[in-house]
Amino acid sequence: MTDSRVILSVKDLVVKFNLRGRVLTAIRGASLDIYAGESLAIVGESGAGKSVFTKTFMGLLDGNGWIDSGSIIYNGEDLAKYKTEDDWIKVRGKEFAMVFQEPMTSLNPLKTIGSQVEEAVVLHRGLKGEEAKKVVIEILTDVGIEEPEKRYYQYPHEFSGGMRQRVVIAIAVACKPKVLICDEPTTALDVTIQAQILKLLKSLQKKHNLTTIYITHDLGVVANIADRIAVMYAGDIIEIGTCEEVFYNAQHPYTWALLSSLPQLGVKGKQLYAIKGTPPNLFNEIKGDAFAPRNEKALKIDFIKRPPYFDVSPTHKAKTWLLDPRAPKVEPPESIKKLCRQWKGDIQ
Ligand SMILES: Nc1ncnc2c1ncn2[C@@H]1O[C@H](COP(=O)(O)OP(=O)(O)O)[C@@H](O)[C@H]1O
Ligand SMILES: [Mg+2]
Repeated sequence: MTDSRVILSVKDLVVKFNLRGRVLTAIRGASLDIYAGESLAIVGESGAGKSVFTKTFMGLLDGNGWIDSGSIIYNGEDLAKYKTEDDWIKVRGKEFAMVFQEPMTSLNPLKTIGSQVEEAVVLHRGLKGEEAKKVVIEILTDVGIEEPEKRYYQYPHEFSGGMRQRVVIAIAVACKPKVLICDEPTTALDVTIQAQILKLLKSLQKKHNLTTIYITHDLGVVANIADRIAVMYAGDIIEIGTCEEVFYNAQHPYTWALLSSLPQLGVKGKQLYAIKGTPPNLFNEIKGDAFAPRNEKALKIDFIKRPPYFDVSPTHKAKTWLLDPRAPKVEPPESIKKLCRQWKGDIQ
């Protein structure tokens, strides 16, 4: 059954890398349907595979990596079968645009801000001269850059980190993409600037009806920006649901652990909860639930058999044996229940 809301459909994706003669499996059969116009957050610890997963949509995998199996259907085509740069040119910028963590990696230090945004306008909108410049000024205004006529002629080093990220966002928007992928766009910025950039992304998403994929290791920042949250662990999406479902009714022990490490749970004078142990070694074959070795309440079957998705609601599913009808009743940690009550209280 195909759902007409789906703009991008990833099925059973496996991505591998060759590293010094050994093979590492970074994405282990992940599937995800992305809806047109939605704001989807992908969260998970560093190394979970968030960047690798989304880089496959644009043909940006590092040279030692490849899609081993699975499909990425966009506009009726399987992007997983694309081989050449000529193939990718059709989607890069035009259909998908990406904003990375460090704006300086996306900007050319030797070119003015204006000329860099203009390149995108010329290439993707076919405008020239004064007309192109006018559109650039409009876009710079759109992303909250003051005095755009003056800023147009300045270089990246004359901009603060937050302003540079606005320029990168301007370049992405200038291409008029359908899907905007933001990979940890605010991680390098301080908290106040982070909030401003999030607000900007949210307003651009609404204004241009952009499908936004928002990648972060910090579950705390997504509540205000995401319609849905996908939780990634060891190269797979282990839980997905609406923002409310994942915050208030999380089912996977890993999601509980992520929620438990939110700073909001910190009690004054007490150390913040940190998830114990380390993610599995991706060079090895992973048996069962990849989180089991770090899960104090893991079931026997968690070490033996990989859990399938169990539906929690029509919009919420998780890969945990706890959802099997035969599983013993395991409650989320007390701290999470308390947090949910606090949040609910806050809302009223
Ligand atoms: N070019 C590469 N060669 C080998 N391993 C890689 C390469 N790129 C990423 N990886 C590995 O793939 C896994 C997922 O990485 P990544 O997607 O960057 O994680 P995240 O973005 O969630 O922090 C990590 O174990 C990482 O070390
Ligand atoms: Mg990353």
